[in-house]
Amino acid sequence: MQLLDGVKVSNDIKNEITAQVDLMKERGEKVPHLAAVLVGNDGASLTYVGSKVKACERVGFESSLIKFPDTTTEEELLQKIKELNENDDIDGYIVQLPLPKQIDSQKILLAISPSKDVDGFHPENFGKMAQEMQTFIPATPFGIMELLERYKVETQGKHVVVIGRSHIVGRPMSILMGRKGYPGNATVTLAHSHTQNIEELTKQADIIITALGVPNYLKADMVKDGVTVIDVGITRVPSDNEKGYKITGDVDFEMVSKKAAFITPVPGGVGPMTIAMLLKNTLLARQMRNEKNK
Ligand code: GUN
Repeated sequence: MQLLDGVKVSNDIKNEITAQVDLMKERGEKVPHLAAVLVGNDGASLTYVGSKVKACERVGFESSLIKFPDTTTEEELLQKIKELNENDDIDGYIVQLPLPKQIDSQKILLAISPSKDVDGFHPENFGKMAQEMQTFIPATPFGIMELLERYKVETQGKHVVVIGRSHIVGRPMSILMGRKGYPGNATVTLAHSHTQNIEELTKQADIIITALGVPNYLKADMVKDGVTVIDVGITRVPSDNEKGYKITGDVDFEMVSKKAAFITPVPGGVGPMTIAMLLKNTLLARQMRNEKNK
């Protein structure tokens, strides 16, 4: 069994990005600037956004954290988005999801300028991704593609079962694995809450990508020998440690890892990759703006 080590690979990527930022500085160019908008006080979202900002510092990017109370109206948030779209200093930004229920997330995502949409959630970017054009790939699926590539996991002609059809992970993942090239050229099944006899699918799968949020859902008797397992689950489960919780994935790691050829741990698998790929998208946003201004 080979562990797909997201901590190591994300550090490699951050070092590669740092080297590029150093070059930009040497040439007297503007360094990438990422902004993150956070509405409300959700604990997990605060942690994620904090990690994103810290990662910017580590690679030499500029960053801005914009916090709003959970009583913020849709109009107030749309006003901020307009400002961010027009602010030439900001290369890319994200609006952390989920948003409070008085705000229509779809309306917000549509208002983000596609050229600054480093999450890749705008339909224009999502459509470009589906049509295999250059664009921002959503960070979590992008991170999974990078892990598969750097560990040389074979994907061509393989049967990939993606569990979960969220717009952030499952749906884009299913599109990416079916695209031409590597990693890709796979036969993809997208399973979700209405899928029947899911074990029949997972037992045939060469690669399983779970993005469910159900701790220890995928058991050893649901997979075949030699499977590759990518665990995107990050559920906070009560624990008597200092924090009062621990992060648990969708996969029964102890048992499934005995049958797997490749597997991601949780934590330390997909999670750190997500942040590294957001940085990569922000670097791409800066480079595209440079090209446009030439
Ligand atoms: N919430 C959970 N994952 C993400 C993500 O990748 N981007 C944003 N903006 N919100 C999220």
